[in-house]
Amino acid sequence: MRLVSISDLHFYSATYSPMQLFSKRITTNLNYLLNRKKKFDPQQTEHYLTIIRKIRPDYVLITGDLTCSAMSEELSQAKNFHKELSKITPNILLIPGNHDSLTLFSRGRYYKTFNDQDLKNKRLKCIPLNSNWDLLLIDTCYFFPHFLANGYFSQQLEQKLASKLDSIHNKSVILACHFPLEAYGYPQKHLIRFEALKTLLKSYPQVKLYISGHKHKSSIISTTPYTQVQNPALFDRSKGGFYTINLNNQDFSIEQYLRK
Ligand SMILES: [Fe+2]
Repeated sequence: MRLVSISDLHFYSATYSPMQLFSKRITTNLNYLLNRKKKFDPQQTEHYLTIIRKIRPDYVLITGDLTCSAMSEELSQAKNFHKELSKITPNILLIPGNHDSLTLFSRGRYYKTFNDQDLKNKRLKCIPLNSNWDLLLIDTCYFFPHFLANGYFSQQLEQKLASKLDSIHNKSVILACHFPLEAYGYPQKHLIRFEALKTLLKSYPQVKLYISGHKHKSSIISTTPYTQVQNPALFDRSKGGFYTINLNNQDFSIEQYLRK
């Protein structure tokens, strides 16, 4: 069974209004114009779709930041990409990232487009991939004020995740979260209470893989008992790409398609 893992698409549409002076949207526009526009090439959409078609995955996982600020035009571009992926496999699994929750209303617009009431309300969802593997999605995205790009692993989510993992026996688990398990960009960009999540995972050796995005930097870190897969930003001109994860019984192997 093959799972293609992609992240941080950051579909963008320029919109300007005086209200942005009071919103995080202005930071996103500036960041795009000064930085991301040079680095990102969403014209590679067809290029990647062609590669993913050849891989013929059973599942595609998207670990967040489909947009820059969940504006309707950005969501519509993300939806079109999702539609093309769903012609390859109907099993597209996704979580939002901090950019999909950038302003007070972004998260609501994101979930209106990618309807998933379970994940929206409970912030945790379990998808049985086959008889050997389950995939757990967690949504740790909240609205934060200007200049903060954090996520938050709440105590409530910690309890829900522990109780879900308590109920999973004789199966291996992949946990997908937008944020890596580290003090990245501390104190502005990391997952608040990531230490609690790391501690929890030590008690559940059935979690074999932790997949995240957010950093725009690809890496595979093998630690005990789980391996951390850090997805690159798909459309990054120099460091973009994605991973393919092959799942066999209780084992897995990882292949990469990176533009390095
Ligand atoms: Fe992010």
